Amino acid sequence: MQNETEQKNALICQKKGELLSKQSVVSHSAVQNLIREAIRGMKLSYSPYSKFCVGAALLTANQRIFTGCNIENVAYSPTNCAERTAFFKAVSEGEREFAAIAIVGGKSGVLTDYCPPCGVCRQVMREFTDPKQFLVILAKSEEDYQMYFLEELLPLGFGPENI
Ligand code: THU
Repeated sequence: MQNETEQKNALICQKKGELLSKQSVVSHSAVQNLIREAIRGMKLSYSPYSKFCVGAALLTANQRIFTGCNIENVAYSPTNCAERTAFFKAVSEGEREFAAIAIVGGKSGVLTDYCPPCGVCRQVMREFTDPKQFLVILAKSEEDYQMYFLEELLPLGFGPENI
């Protein structure tokens, strides 16, 4: 039976291990580059209704980057999120293997908070990636970001192998 301190230390080691395994998927400079591309993508956001600008940059297994922005619609429901724009661009260009996606967003493009992906976008990621390996990077700047494996954001997800 572990005491409280042992439990805390075990948790810290686990977190460090998680960070190391995340950094082995993409290096810090690759993450920064992806964030830069996501910010570049966000600049093209078409969001006249919400004024909430989102950008994404999707890194393929063979190191290509596809950017995306949110594209709103006056009828609201046809709106496409930035993440799905990036995925659909990449898949429509023949890409099927992905390593990571960086996401940025904020009112009028000001990055005050992290912009987590909506449930629909998480499900689209689930379709094309291994949730234990695909990294979702939420950023406020090139220096200020958080990384998650998709599995952390979509536990017990319904994927292609469930059908
Ligand atoms: N949006 C995204 O682009 N990605 C998300 O994951 C969350 C929401 C967009 C949709 C809409 O244009 C705006 O943000 C406000 O919801």
